[in-house]
Amino acid sequence: MYSVINVESYDCIVGLDALNNARSYLKSYIKSKAIVITDENVYKYHYKTMDILLDDLEIEHEFYVISPGESSKCFSEYEKIMEYMSLRYHRDDTVIAFGGGVVGDLAGFVAATFMRGVDLIQIPTTLLSMVDSSVGSKTGIDLKTGKNLVGCFKDPALCIIDPLLLKTLDDYVFEDGFGEVIKYAVCFDKELFELIKSNRFTKHKNLSEVVEICVTIKKNIVLQDKLENDVRKMLNYGHTIAHAIEKLSDYTVMHGHAVAYGINCMAKKYNEDYSDVLEVLKMYNLDKIYDYPIDELYDVSLRDKKNTKDEVVLIISEKVGECSILKLNKNDYRKILGDIHENIHR
Ligand SMILES: NC(=O)c1ccc[n+]([C@@H]2O[C@H](COP(=O)([O-])OP(=O)(O)OC[C@H]3O[C@@H](n4cnc5c(N)ncnc54)[C@H](O)[C@@H]3O)[C@@H](O)[C@H]2O)c1
Repeated sequence: MYSVINVESYDCIVGLDALNNARSYLKSYIKSKAIVITDENVYKYHYKTMDILLDDLEIEHEFYVISPGESSKCFSEYEKIMEYMSLRYHRDDTVIAFGGGVVGDLAGFVAATFMRGVDLIQIPTTLLSMVDSSVGSKTGIDLKTGKNLVGCFKDPALCIIDPLLLKTLDDYVFEDGFGEVIKYAVCFDKELFELIKSNRFTKHKNLSEVVEICVTIKKNIVLQDKLENDVRKMLNYGHTIAHAIEKLSDYTVMHGHAVAYGINCMAKKYNEDYSDVLEVLKMYNLDKIYDYPIDELYDVSLRDKKNTKDEVVLIISEKVGECSILKLNKNDYRKILGDIHENIHR
């Protein structure tokens, strides 16, 4: 069984074994040939499933396999794929992004720009990409100076989310996705918070309900503010600190773990339910404290592209299920960040 969540112009199909159960969707969205962009790990574990499925549906296809990891989300990989496709693909062909957020962002940007745009189907394979990056249409690549600095919005034609694919994930990568799940719960949904607090989800349990709730929260926000002028900023709870931690650790700390640290910092200072928040972070091995000097944290977090020249935006949650937007000048932000930093290391 699966659920269909409509996000503006496209559907997200969510459910255990959705890949097989919703195969008719896939068929109806591919007009001609498909290039399946994936990475080596996803290819190793899930190549057969996808190959057999596309063969059964009589969809002409081939796999384009990139190295795993953030370093593939770059201009040179983008250029290689574009050159490759330019000799073999046309405007009525389809890009299938089959992987985590790295593949989703890169392949999405390829689809958005190849011949001024071809169809894109997102099939996320990590928890983080299922609950976050595959929904909301952001695509892009990194520059040497920072993450996601080149990109655009590209709606997929279809998104298929099948939590069965999660079983092959490394535990660290699986738990990483919970950084974002906990963010949704703390900011928007007390019931989701109780659900993940009363059950310790593992990659072997059925994640469909959790994923469906998160996708629905994200969809509702994206529908109000796709371009992130207002309420979509709330999805950045914990992210100002998180982006700085990712950068300062040279990306050895993955995004979800960094977000969890950001949540821990913000909740300890502002949230009346902090002990519950900490308990949930601990359940998912997401309570690690990172120790970088406050001045470095401040400098790097100011370079977050979500800030403007004079204004820093912080998302505050004062109790589980609620959040609000706080806009600060740099001086006030420096003072608050100092307090948060001191508080978390106390
Ligand atoms: N577009 C957006 O809105 C958005 C939102 C959040 C994050 N992101 C981006 O997402 C990226 C991070 O995504 P991620 O956390 O999915 O990381 P990732 O894509 O690097 O995947 C993490 C690791 O898991 C492996 N993997 C993926 N699926 C697997 C599976 N089913 N079984 C076994 N191994 C598997 C990958 O090979 C990789 O080694 C970052 O580049 C970030 O900027 C984008």
